[in-house]
Amino acid sequence: MQRWIAVAPPGLEPVVARELAGHGISGHVEPGVVRFRAELADGARLAARLRTPAHLRVLVCEGRADGFEALARLVRGADWRPYLRRQTPVAVRVAGRGRLARLRDALARKVGFALRDAQRRLPPGRARGPEVEQRVFVRLDGDRAAVQLDAGGEPLHRRGWRVEAGGAPLRENLAAAVLTAAGWAGDEALVDPFCGSGTFCIEAALLALDRPPGAGRATAAWSWPAVDLPPPRPSRRASPPVPILGADRDPRVLLKARANADRARVIVDWRQLDVAEVEPPAPTGLVVANPPYGARLGARVAGVYSAFGRALAERFGGWRCAFLAPHRDLARRVHPAAERLTTFSNGGIRVGLYALDDPAAPRG
Ligand SMILES: C[S@@+](CC[C@H](N)C(=O)[O-])C[C@H]1O[C@@H](n2cnc3c(N)ncnc32)[C@H](O)[C@@H]1O
Repeated sequence: MQRWIAVAPPGLEPVVARELAGHGISGHVEPGVVRFRAELADGARLAARLRTPAHLRVLVCEGRADGFEALARLVRGADWRPYLRRQTPVAVRVAGRGRLARLRDALARKVGFALRDAQRRLPPGRARGPEVEQRVFVRLDGDRAAVQLDAGGEPLHRRGWRVEAGGAPLRENLAAAVLTAAGWAGDEALVDPFCGSGTFCIEAALLALDRPPGAGRATAAWSWPAVDLPPPRPSRRASPPVPILGADRDPRVLLKARANADRARVIVDWRQLDVAEVEPPAPTGLVVANPPYGARLGARVAGVYSAFGRALAERFGGWRCAFLAPHRDLARRVHPAAERLTTFSNGGIRVGLYALDDPAAPRG
């Protein structure tokens, strides 16, 4: 069994743990990470399936590293056979705390040389799929180091479908985490009235169709010698089994949403509408929204949150709602009963995730 680290967006660790539990894995939650144990092949499959973490890494080795030589010895002495071949391209990043961490660029070069020494002793050969660059991550903590290898390769939020971003796109893994936190499991309707480039709707469609979110990119762990899975077959364009509606008043962002959905091979109902005009496509479901916020938009934003609250009250009785807001005053404009589930950082701005069980309930 290997030791794995799912890197979670701070504030959303329990959501990552919940997603892992859905795969039958019990994880240990710590600030910024969820740790768990799994066989190598199972972890490699998870790297293409997990929707909510930012990274999934396997722990290759850990130990004392109180200087450059000690760290190089630790890296050279590790068993790299399950992960690398002689010619595998490797990139190294060093981060963490302590005296050594200030020298991270020089340390990364040192680790790179040590890895090349270790690779010279490995068998040659080629992966069945594309040869993906392997990303080694060294986390320093005082005079100890943990050497980890990224199972996704690229950060997991890069699903491979985003060609076009709207003004303020939500990262794909954050969108998936909001859906998971709101309890949306792909078996009820979904509406995003501020859909922008379509992140919530596309993530929801992938989830409802049970499509691995990483199917559109090369997953690093799939080319590890001990795993060596064939690249996934391209999926056909498909409609999710439940209505998914993305609306926005800006026709330019809807063009981007369409292009993104085409690349993700999913069909979503996109409509150019103001929030005041959106109609529910089913008697119940989830409204999910990342309405506009940010200093540059100023006072106009308050009016948008109030209009959102009115639209929910008038037409979305029987639905649930999950939405983002930078502070409580704006959230209360949607509904005074909106409860804050957690806060996290979206593009450097701290936002709250609010939930509302019945948006048409009297405003008290
Ligand atoms: C923060 S962005 C949403 C980003 C989106 N979640 C994504 O990932 O791309 C907010 C969106 O709300 C839209 N918007 C602003 N006011 C609106 C209104 N009154 N009715 C409908 N859409 C509106 C903007 O055009 C913008 O695309």
